[in-house]
Amino acid sequence: MMSAAEVFGIDADIKVSKIERDEVGELTDHIPEVDPAYVFDTEATLALLAGFEHNRRVMIQGGHGTGKSTHVEQVAARLNWPLIRINLDGHLTRSDLVGRDTIVVRDGQQVTEFQEGLLPWAIQRPVAVLFDEFDAGRPDVMFVIQRVLERDGRFTLLDQNRVITPHPRFRLFATTNTVGLGDLTGLYRGTNVLNQAQVDRWNVVAHLDYLSAEAERRVVLGQVPALKERADGEELAAAMIEVAAMTRTGFAAGDLSTVMSPRTVISWADNTLTFGDVGVAYRLSFVNKCDEAEKPVAQEYYQRVFGSTESD
Ligand SMILES: Nc1ncnc2c1ncn2[C@@H]1O[C@H](COP(=O)(O)OP(=O)(O)OP(=O)(O)O)[C@@H](O)[C@H]1O
Ligand SMILES: [Mg+2]
Repeated sequence: MMSAAEVFGIDADIKVSKIERDEVGELTDHIPEVDPAYVFDTEATLALLAGFEHNRRVMIQGGHGTGKSTHVEQVAARLNWPLIRINLDGHLTRSDLVGRDTIVVRDGQQVTEFQEGLLPWAIQRPVAVLFDEFDAGRPDVMFVIQRVLERDGRFTLLDQNRVITPHPRFRLFATTNTVGLGDLTGLYRGTNVLNQAQVDRWNVVAHLDYLSAEAERRVVLGQVPALKERADGEELAAAMIEVAAMTRTGFAAGDLSTVMSPRTVISWADNTLTFGDVGVAYRLSFVNKCDEAEKPVAQEYYQRVFGSTESD
């Protein structure tokens, strides 16, 4: 047993345990790599730990680039839990998930053989499945998942007359941008309204929002270590986050229709080192993503913090 406070750097008085390597067997390759600079959000991490330790179905909802997918990945990494990320895009079909009949040659004869899809394969193993972009899934595909969402949800392979009991270490997680009620902001095109019976089956729904300025600064400096080495690195990161905060307030107030995600702040920091100019990098990382009419607003945020437009 290890203390969660120590492993994740969060403020919580609980113990967590790792999976032994030999229990994982040949799935070791699927254990995500630890990102030592990762900054954990307390509530989202506790929700995920409930998922891993107590077999709850946990959904993480939040804006783009706030660290939903990587939170699941990094918690799994620290618990030694193999993780399989499945993108629920519009091309994922029922047979990808359930399986299909395939033709194989056996003893010189062509025979049809059922080939297990992702779900029956995963359910029988000590593995966590992450359905990424859960709200983009197609309704017919979603119903396949419905049954396994229940905690002891056995999985019936109709075509096979077979009922599969889940492995005690099988886990299921999802990330979504919307809460399943449709896209109210216009930001998340391609998402669907989710069936409420399905949303109901998720035991824990955590909301991941933008981090505090201090935490975000640690994230940026952690993800772009070369910035930390610069004498003005810390200051620069703090200033960038100030601009990012302005875009978020501006977005909420309706002044701007594009919002700077933590992911964009990280690429801005990266691009600053690549292009050697923080203003040019700002334009290439963020301003050019904005509507023509709103570019002056984005530039004004920059000016307010950096005191000038880009130097060229
Ligand atoms: N708390 C954090 N600590 C360290 N890095 C972070 C953190 N949050 C986000 N990042 C970094 O920001 C980037 C975006 O994170 P991630 O892909 O998890 O976002 P997401 O919420 O899943 O976004 P989307 O909704 O677009 O899928 C990653 O490169 C990740 O390393
Ligand atoms: Mg994601």
